[in-house]
Amino acid sequence: MLWLIVSAVAVLCLPPVPALNNGLARTPPMGWLHWERFTCETDCVRNPTTCISEQLFMQMADMMVSNGWLQAGYKYLCIDDCWLAAQRDENYRLQADPDRFPGGIKKLADYVHARGLLLGIYQDVGKQTCAGYPGSQGFYDVDAQTFADWGVDLLKFDGCNYGTLEQLEDGYRHMSIALNRTGRNIVYSCEWPFYARRLTKVNYTEVAEYCNSWRNFDDIQDSWASVKYLMDFTASLQDELVDAAGPGGWNDPDMLVIGNFGLSWEQEVTQMALWSIMAAPLLMSNDLRDINPRSKALLQNQEVIAINQDPLGAQGYRLLQVIDFEVWEKPLAGGSLAVSVTNRQEIGGARQFILLRGILWKGLACKDKCYLTQLLPTRHDYGGFNATFFIQLSVNPSGTVLLRVD
Ligand code: GLA
Repeated sequence: MLWLIVSAVAVLCLPPVPALNNGLARTPPMGWLHWERFTCETDCVRNPTTCISEQLFMQMADMMVSNGWLQAGYKYLCIDDCWLAAQRDENYRLQADPDRFPGGIKKLADYVHARGLLLGIYQDVGKQTCAGYPGSQGFYDVDAQTFADWGVDLLKFDGCNYGTLEQLEDGYRHMSIALNRTGRNIVYSCEWPFYARRLTKVNYTEVAEYCNSWRNFDDIQDSWASVKYLMDFTASLQDELVDAAGPGGWNDPDMLVIGNFGLSWEQEVTQMALWSIMAAPLLMSNDLRDINPRSKALLQNQEVIAINQDPLGAQGYRLLQVIDFEVWEKPLAGGSLAVSVTNRQEIGGARQFILLRGILWKGLACKDKCYLTQLLPTRHDYGGFNATFFIQLSVNPSGTVLLRVD
């Protein structure tokens, strides 16, 4: 009953503030998020090194600092589902599972901040999280304040168990306003369009007014099929999605799974190149304690990261599909351009693609002197070209060549 009263009061108090204007996420957020790799493993007796616990996050924090991740730009260390205790405390505040997080989230935030990193946490707009822990519905203000008190810097706000479409949408709006009201800088990462899409046409202008990033599609898995699906889905909706993205708000095709088990080298290159072209948040989900050097170098490639983090903040789009190749491009600050060519044929060896200047973005600033650099799969300086250049690229099956034109 009390819960009902709290919810009713919470809904009635929804203030008419129109937009998220928190000054955060001016470029896509970068960091690490536990879900894809560590899911909801809560048995720390059987799985002491992989269960969702403060120890896992402290170890990842140490890795992020000592192995160059923070320096490369990955600064948000993010907790996903399954960190919560089964009940709120006597003041209806959330609490972390006491066995797995004996120091509580505040202590973990202090640990993370002391190393120059930022802490992300997870909650859900509905009655329960997707894994069945207490959700935020009816407690948006309390939970926002709790996160601010703990020193949280990012909230991933899931959409399971939301009730009606109206409750889902009001909940996302309400939490945005509640976070703002705390006065703490907290990046707000939503899954609003992903859940709302099943019931209505998503108003991306509005979503962007409330959220710093938003998931549109299903959860990523550690497979090439999943990466392809997310590329295809994004391209199929690009007329809606591309315009919605920009400094402060980003479409989120979900985590980078590079460095795990499911992708070949070529496919890892494709994910890194396309997530950069799509101006996606770069949130890795992998085990930083055990990652092969080639995947690590790919994830830390500064020239590729620069495409993703370009200050213009334009989301790239699929320009063309032809004979199982696809070409994407992303306008960059100063009239430069990133271009990717992916070989979607999954039989045979490398195929040749001739890239013509004429098909590329008309805003390209270079007219008679275009400078071409290949960034992936290996770095190659092509040098200068005139206004009508074309180059022949060799692209491996399921691989991508990523170029920059200046
Ligand atoms: C949903 C989200 C995932 C993850 C899980 C946690 O499926 O889309 O990213 O947060 O919930 O339960």
